[in-house]
Amino acid sequence: MANPCLFCLWLMLSFVVLQVQGDGSVGCEVEERRALLRLRDVFKYLNGTTPLPSWDEEKETDCCMWERVKCDQSNHHVTQLYLRGIRLWSSSDDFFLNASLFLPFRELQNLSLDSNKIRGFHEVLNLSKLQVLDLSFNWFDEIPSLGLLRSLRILNMGDNSINTWSHFEELTTLKHLELLNFAFNYLSGKVPNALGSFTALKFLSFEYNNLNGSLIDGGFCKLRNLQELGLGFNTFEGRIPSCIGNLTSLRTLDLQSNYFTGTLPSAIFSTLNLLEYLSLSFNYFEGSFSFNSFGNNSKLEGFELENFNNTMMVNTENPPWMPQSQIKIFRLLNCKLNEPSENLPSFLLKQRELLVLDLSHTGVREILPSWLLINNSNMKVLNLAGNLLTGSFTYNNHQTKNEYLRMLDVSMNQIQGVLPHSIGVSCPSLTVLNMSMNTIQGGIPPSMGELTDLISLDLSNNNFSGELPHEFVKGCISLQILKLENNNLQGRVLPANSNMSSLEYLGLTNNRFTGELSRGLLNSKSLLVLDLSNNSITGKIPNWIGYLSNLKAIVLSHNFLQGPIPMSFCKVKELGFLDLSKNKFTKTIPACLNVLSLRYLHLHGNEFTGFVPKLLSEASALVTLDMRNNNLFGSIPNWISSLSNLRFLLLGGNQLEGSIPSQLCDLKNVSMLDLSSNNLSSFLPSCLHKVLFGSKPTFDVMVGLNIYEWFPGYPLISTYSYESQLQIGQSLEYDYDVPVEEEEVEFVTKSRSELYKGNVLKYMSGLDLSFNNFTGPIPHEIGYLSDIHTLNLSHNHFIGSIPTTFSNLKQIECLDLSHNRLNGQIPQDLIELHFLSIFSVAFNNLSGRIPDKNQFLTFDNNSYEGNPLLCRQLLGESCNSSSSIEPSSSSEPIIEENDPFKDTFVWSFIASYIVAFIASVIIFLCCTDYSERLLMSVRAKFVVFIF
Ligand SMILES: *[C@@H]1O[C@H](CO)[C@@H](O)[C@H](O)[C@H]1NC(C)=O
Ligand SMILES: *[C@@H]1O[C@H](CO)[C@@H](O)[C@H](O)[C@H]1NC(C)=O
Ligand SMILES: *[C@@H]1O[C@H](CO)[C@@H](O)[C@H](O)[C@H]1NC(C)=O
Ligand SMILES: *[C@@H]1O[C@H](CO)[C@@H](O)[C@H](O)[C@H]1NC(C)=O
Ligand SMILES: *[C@@H]1O[C@H](CO)[C@@H](O)[C@H](O)[C@H]1NC(C)=O
Repeated sequence: MANPCLFCLWLMLSFVVLQVQGDGSVGCEVEERRALLRLRDVFKYLNGTTPLPSWDEEKETDCCMWERVKCDQSNHHVTQLYLRGIRLWSSSDDFFLNASLFLPFRELQNLSLDSNKIRGFHEVLNLSKLQVLDLSFNWFDEIPSLGLLRSLRILNMGDNSINTWSHFEELTTLKHLELLNFAFNYLSGKVPNALGSFTALKFLSFEYNNLNGSLIDGGFCKLRNLQELGLGFNTFEGRIPSCIGNLTSLRTLDLQSNYFTGTLPSAIFSTLNLLEYLSLSFNYFEGSFSFNSFGNNSKLEGFELENFNNTMMVNTENPPWMPQSQIKIFRLLNCKLNEPSENLPSFLLKQRELLVLDLSHTGVREILPSWLLINNSNMKVLNLAGNLLTGSFTYNNHQTKNEYLRMLDVSMNQIQGVLPHSIGVSCPSLTVLNMSMNTIQGGIPPSMGELTDLISLDLSNNNFSGELPHEFVKGCISLQILKLENNNLQGRVLPANSNMSSLEYLGLTNNRFTGELSRGLLNSKSLLVLDLSNNSITGKIPNWIGYLSNLKAIVLSHNFLQGPIPMSFCKVKELGFLDLSKNKFTKTIPACLNVLSLRYLHLHGNEFTGFVPKLLSEASALVTLDMRNNNLFGSIPNWISSLSNLRFLLLGGNQLEGSIPSQLCDLKNVSMLDLSSNNLSSFLPSCLHKVLFGSKPTFDVMVGLNIYEWFPGYPLISTYSYESQLQIGQSLEYDYDVPVEEEEVEFVTKSRSELYKGNVLKYMSGLDLSFNNFTGPIPHEIGYLSDIHTLNLSHNHFIGSIPTTFSNLKQIECLDLSHNRLNGQIPQDLIELHFLSIFSVAFNNLSGRIPDKNQFLTFDNNSYEGNPLLCRQLLGESCNSSSSIEPSSSSEPIIEENDPFKDTFVWSFIASYIVAFIASVIIFLCCTDYSERLLMSVRAKFVVFIF
């Protein structure tokens, strides 16, 4: 107020006006005032104070002046009551409201009780003038009896817990009802036919329920005045009936996330010429669809079709479609776009107002269309991932600025060249940037440091080189996910001045980072996953690592780290995945380590000594224990049986001695057991067959999910807004979700590299006892391991004959019994082992005839050498003298570097490692606050209906 006296004058004047109203006794009716005071007391907080302090009987003020009350100008009856969110939805006390409290308000037109945690009305609400009733965000579990509200135009029952259709038919007597909102409830089954009698309806939402049946059942086609129809996030099924084409007033149609099938007949859309927003996403449509159907539509702004069924063909060119309106949102994920030319839709050239463009996984084969960003300076989301884009960024930063761009994803293409050097300046609002899986080179531009909102950056699987720029590590303070795997980056991991305090995932595997672990990591105390494997990091693990106490996965394998594991590791509370393999670590793991959550422990290829750490007997969640190639001694502990979840027990390449304890047979879930190259001796326990070796996988590994899957989406702003009563399609939040890609794992078996699809891995199983001093006969029970893939008993002192039960090893691919003292014949039934592709019995004392059928025809003499009495019956020859197999010149057992059996184990292991790693990450992220956050992000999608 410039002049205080003017203000005083105004105040006085208003006071006079009030007085006149009050004195003229034209204020609200006595009865209404009394009713309001009763209501006020009902809404009192538990501590006795009122949330409606202005509703005060002591003061003579007109109740029309009370907060949240509005009266009719002429007759001063209360006509509107906004009691929204008084007893907060989140508060613990919920209550019932006796509807008769509202009866004195006969002129009431508008009643809003949303967000109150009210459980229900006890009486029938009977307000003859009521036009608007908002009961959303309460706790109703059924539809209140409202059939007497003959004047009602708007009924909002969204966000309750309604789960029955009772009283729904009663509502159909409300002939004036124009807006009906049941979004976010628990309604299930089919929509009652009665729906068809709401003929005045213009706006209808059943989004987020569990409705099923087809659209015909629901009688939706009868609602000829509908302008907005929201049926998304239900379980509706069947085809889209062609009668939908009769709803010619429709402006918004949201059918996403249902089970609709069939083709999308263009006839439907060719009559809906007022459509502004159409979402067909997350259904199971098939066949082809031509955008030409929208030829006469002059309003379309938003179109979404992310199909689950990636066979759907979508065509914008033949005949060509040129929208008469400017498109703002266009998403076509997972369809086949414009086959066979695979061109970008040509209408895009004419768009200037695009906010969201998602053409990911549509098979587009083009040069990277940087012009999209230049033409559409308001773009918020651009996703072109998983196509066949080539060329490089020709984005000229001085030309334009994309101030609003939040997400840019061009991953999984064939983009080359370097990143635009001023990307951080021209796209300052980026929160998600994904350029992984291309062949981009050069350094990370220092201007990236300007991206203070950046949450997720994925540049993995490219040819990036150079060091992480200081500006970048200092500036990106919001970064939570940093994925730079598989590049040629160098220098220190995170320099001391780094400021990535929100970082949760740091993936730098397979680069050329050097130096000691840098204190810069300490500035990222929220780290959950630290993966620095396959670099050239030196020195010891510093004591301060314990300050990163939230870590759930630590992967430092394949570096030059040394020394003992520091005690401070024990401060890490919920370590689930620890991989220190292929370094030069010494001593043993600290006895104070928190192993309760530990699921994956990889320590192989170090210089750890001592016994198998006793501490691990408490690690009951352990799935993988890999301590191969260390200097462990002592025996295999009896407590091993307490690791009942163990799948991979790998202790090969140590100096373990003694016999295999029978407790090991209790590890029923083990599918890979490697005890090779130790000094184990004595007889094999006959119970080994109790270990299932993969026959019944109890542990379902979810393989092949991109880690992004489990970092829930980052809400990326509301991208699209137009006038919508129900806010359907508004406040769209874009989750950053990469479609599920099956991880392919290089897996070597049968001495050759094969590409196994991830989910096959859980069935790979093997037992390797080679290079020990086991004696006695091979227990015939081993032949019961009918699901085992690899069995290696070579280089021991086994005696006796090959058990005939071996013919039961139906899945076996590699069987090595060489370098033992076996005698007798090779059981002829082994020809039944159809998958057998590596077989050796060399250097034993076997005799008799070599099986000569099936697989056995493919094994050469190396499989049999060193068995002077073994003979091979070649074409026509008799099996006696000449064809016996001579020992080859070098009869010394040579442990070759690339012994195929070793390879099998190594590769099996790597494969399992990858599976395990992925699984572990999934498990962490599912079990912890991530799932909560996921829920939150879902919750955040709830659209509150506000008048
Ligand atoms: C009474 O409870 C309400 C709601 O919990 C709170 O906002 C208010 O401050 C409390 N008043 C007093 C005096 O404690
Ligand atoms: C609601 O209020 C009316 C009038 O005061 C009363 O007759 C009725 O019993 C009340 N209903 C319940 C369930 O308390
Ligand atoms: C409604 O749609 C159906 C099916 O497309 C059609 O047969 C019928 O004539 C339409 N009704 C009107 C009044 O247009
Ligand atoms: C557009 O309208 C014209 C004239 O009514 C009609 O001939 C044409 O078939 C319509 N186009 C589409 C795609 O429905
Ligand atoms: C968009 O960019 C392309 C390529 O530079 C250009 O041909 C086209 O005219 C632009 N469109 C608009 C609407 O500016």
